[in-house]
Amino acid sequence: MSARVSGRAQRPGSRAALRPFVADDLEPVLAAMRAGETVPAGARGGGPSREAVRRMIASSGELLAGRLELAIEAEGRPVGVVEARAPRGAFPPGVFELGIQVWDPRDRGRGHGTQAVALLAAHLFGGLGARRVQAVTEVGNAAMRRALERAGFRMEGVLRGFLPPETAAGTGDCAVYGITNDEWENDREPWT
Ligand SMILES: CC(C)(COP(=O)(O)OP(=O)(O)OC[C@H]1O[C@@H](n2cnc3c(N)ncnc32)[C@H](O)[C@@H]1OP(=O)(O)O)[C@@H](O)C(=O)NCCC(=O)NCCS
Repeated sequence: MSARVSGRAQRPGSRAALRPFVADDLEPVLAAMRAGETVPAGARGGGPSREAVRRMIASSGELLAGRLELAIEAEGRPVGVVEARAPRGAFPPGVFELGIQVWDPRDRGRGHGTQAVALLAAHLFGGLGARRVQAVTEVGNAAMRRALERAGFRMEGVLRGFLPPETAAGTGDCAVYGITNDEWENDREPWT
């Protein structure tokens, strides 16, 4: 993969791939977001906004303003989004944080999250020169924690009270996971 993602990345034998969003994704993305009651980044309340999804589609595939968003595709349709964030001035160069959502609960627990996390990390290390990729998730989010561990991330500690009470399912305590370039180089065989 080069810095701009143009094709599909998929691990042999896996059901999920990463690719940029395309214009035809608009309706399936909105439908899947509604099924999962997901509000896209940039939208304000009231459910998924068509305009916010259009913006996500238009900017997908390229690291723009410190943000890269890619579609998780399974069974020929977009089932979720995976994103990398590298906000300038907030993180040191070469550090990325990833986020992920598999929108429709019916699409979760089928291995797509694990594949997407590993494929995004491979792109960040292989295409964008990452030194470190990290992720933060609520301590009670067993699926996310397991997906990160399966993709080679290590648990590094707990950020106590990280999430505000109104958005947290539990205490707001979050687990920090990370993987360095050296670790990925030594253990990337399953993912490339
Ligand atoms: C978190 C999320 C991205 C994981 O993706 P997924 O496709 O559901 O996860 P996978 O199917 O790859 O499963 C990952 C592991 O978690 C396990 N798992 C899945 N759902 C689980 C659950 N509800 N409880 C406990 N473990 C679970 C799976 O068995 C698997 O472990 P295994 O490989 O040892 O069997 C997805 O569930 C999701 O989008 N959830 C809602 C949004 C969210 O929490 N995003 C992350 C915010 S930081």
